[in-house]
Amino acid sequence: MTDVRVKSQEAFKKHFGVDPDYLSYAPGRVNLIGEHTDYNDGFVLPCAIKFGTAMSAKKNGTSKMRLLAIDINGDTDEFECSATFSAHPTKTWANYLRAMTALIMQKGHKVEGLDVAITGDVPLGSGLSSSASLEVAFGNLVSHVFGLNIPLQEIALTGQACEALNGCKCGIMDQTISACGKANCALLIDCRSLQLTQVSVPANLDILIVNSNVKHALVGGEYNERREQCENAAKILGVKALRDATMAMLDAKKGEMDDVTYRRARHVITEDDRVLEAVKAFEQGDLATLAEKMYASHCSMRDDFEITIPEIDGLVEIIRKAIGEHAAVRMTGGGFGGSVVAVVEPSKVEQVKAAIDAEYEKISGKKATIIETHAFDGAAFTQL
Ligand code: GLA
Repeated sequence: MTDVRVKSQEAFKKHFGVDPDYLSYAPGRVNLIGEHTDYNDGFVLPCAIKFGTAMSAKKNGTSKMRLLAIDINGDTDEFECSATFSAHPTKTWANYLRAMTALIMQKGHKVEGLDVAITGDVPLGSGLSSSASLEVAFGNLVSHVFGLNIPLQEIALTGQACEALNGCKCGIMDQTISACGKANCALLIDCRSLQLTQVSVPANLDILIVNSNVKHALVGGEYNERREQCENAAKILGVKALRDATMAMLDAKKGEMDDVTYRRARHVITEDDRVLEAVKAFEQGDLATLAEKMYASHCSMRDDFEITIPEIDGLVEIIRKAIGEHAAVRMTGGGFGGSVVAVVEPSKVEQVKAAIDAEYEKISGKKATIIETHAFDGAAFTQL
């Protein structure tokens, strides 16, 4: 398969008739543990993956952005650079870039017209953050081309704001890891202080992502509803965010909330603890503890947060059956479809693949896609 960076350069030349001057790239991510904790000011442990979004670009001497989406049947969009966000009525892919342009200009930065050819290989709807990689690649492109020197973590925050403008009140995890990922490391993100700590992924472990091929879409009610439920729980507990609560505090107020609110809060409070324990397990190369924490995370997402679906639960159990009790496996990402992540010894990869090939279609009527990856670097910009 052609690298997306090369593909975007070739498509640029074909479409715009000249060579591009700039190349920007940002990866998707897989979250190892810490789900729906980011918007509760908590902890997450993602790493950047080998798939991402690439864009080749050149200044066009006008005040308009002219965009080519190679993967969306060569769809195009053109818009005036302005600090006012004006959404395209149908081109949802372009709206992330329209939002990014407007938000950067709202900070007083001068942005002019660019011709941009975009392509990516993060499977859409797989829970691996294709939209975050699109936002970060574009924000970093604009920052570099116009000498704006926007720090990567600020680009991530702007990407998060783009999602909000497009209807998803997401947290800061996806954009931060896409912007700031480091090869061979997972990133512990404190989503309150935004402090980043690199955690080495032991060289003797592989990261497997299994895409259920049941598409998820976060721009829908469920995600924002979970966030509201968490904020409501924090209010009842009298804390700024669920990050500040303990299980003892939650149990003391159990009588003041309904069962759903209690379980949503229990997921977040226990998940934060599991992230910190998983970090220790990673540092000690302790796969057994990692497995225990990852599977507990999965059960908590399934039973308390209620964001898994039968196909995903089935995949997790297929992998557990194939590896045995030391299977470090869980759903990854926002939920309602998407992918499963497993941290496995390389010697076990073939048996996991065989089990998925033999069992998954029976329970889902679909084939799963298996991706072997490790942790990659975050966003990169190159002057060609
Ligand atoms: C999506 C959001 C993230 C995070 C995860 C769940 O990926 O974009 O901010 O909330 O879901 O952990």
